[in-house]
Amino acid sequence: MIQINEHYLKLQASYLFSDIAKRVNAYQAANPDKKLIRMGIGDVTEPLPAACLEAFHAAIDEMGARTSFRGYGPEQGYDFLRSAIALNEYQSLGCDIAADEIFVSDGAKCDTGNIQEIFGLNNRVAVPDPVYPVYVDTNVMAGRTGTFVQGRYEGLTYLECTPENGYVPALPEGDVDLIYLCFPNNPTGAVATREQLQAWVEYALSRRAIILYDAAYWAFIRDPQIPRSIFEIPGARECAIEFRSFSKNAGFTGTRCAFTVVPKELKAYDGAGEAVLVHKLWNRRHTTKFNGVSYPVQKAAAAIYSDAGRAQVATLIDLYMANAALIRTTMESLGYACVGGDNAPYVWIQTGASSWEFFDRLLQSAGVVCTPGAGFGKCGEGHVRLSAFNSRANVEEALQRIRALLKP
Ligand code: MLT
Repeated sequence: MIQINEHYLKLQASYLFSDIAKRVNAYQAANPDKKLIRMGIGDVTEPLPAACLEAFHAAIDEMGARTSFRGYGPEQGYDFLRSAIALNEYQSLGCDIAADEIFVSDGAKCDTGNIQEIFGLNNRVAVPDPVYPVYVDTNVMAGRTGTFVQGRYEGLTYLECTPENGYVPALPEGDVDLIYLCFPNNPTGAVATREQLQAWVEYALSRRAIILYDAAYWAFIRDPQIPRSIFEIPGARECAIEFRSFSKNAGFTGTRCAFTVVPKELKAYDGAGEAVLVHKLWNRRHTTKFNGVSYPVQKAAAAIYSDAGRAQVATLIDLYMANAALIRTTMESLGYACVGGDNAPYVWIQTGASSWEFFDRLLQSAGVVCTPGAGFGKCGEGHVRLSAFNSRANVEEALQRIRALLKP
């Protein structure tokens, strides 16, 4: 008799964003004339930069000609893209990252979800709370978390992000082995300073732990003092893996291209305490289970490093960040304490009420979709997240409706 992986039964009913989509779709079906403005899921709205489109079209033409057609590419990504990433994202910041430490993939969601496979089931895992649900759910599926009791998995260490600590968690009191950090943070939009990241790196080095650093929103950092990469921190090459994506900066959510950086000296240990190179393990996993991002998509991604691409991406980011500023100032003017929106495309709002109730109120009375904080964890209760990924016209209209609903 075929048996299931029983760890799946420990998962909460459905993935947060599917749950929200179901509620929103049900509401829309019952109210077909209402124009909803979606500021829930962080999905971009603006079209691909022209430089990416041009490169995309040209690469498709190459695929249509016998002389330039390509079949399977390198699973880790074409060298033209890996080298461009290493140079433009790291070496130009003074970070010592080589092209062959970059693994191109189809998404940071997939990579942050899959990476745990190469680590043992007995590792003690720390996740932020509130948390991007993928870190938790993939560890639940693997059997690393224990059961869900009163809103938390017994086997996880939760790093609480609260108004008191500015939504940047303190180091754990005990020892953990695998630490998920995300800055700029999803969902709170908070950022970590160099000193705060240095403390995490020192903690990880002293325990031979590994930091899984999700930097999918690095491009939105405006403050020059805030590190864009964990690899700006001395020692990070010995204790960190970084995840990034082209989804949010260059509008690739539907096109799919991302990358993960695994330094060659990063080590984890076998049962006998012998060191094993993590790069080698991830390379083995990646080449076994993944066949590479398509050539036209990688060409389109590389185009963001051209002069035109760079300028067009900057314009996109400016647009979303101006939306974020509008959201934050509006919510603050209505008396809500907020974080984020200054170095991140998310604004995290203290609602002073149940976050699902606030979600329902915004949906039903303003036709605006937000993300309820409780969906990201216990510490998310009493908060909602508004995403700045939308057109200016939609953001202005949503804020007008919110103002009308919430003005004191
Ligand atoms: C979010 O809304 O948190 C993001 O869209 C999730 C993701 O990028 O997968």
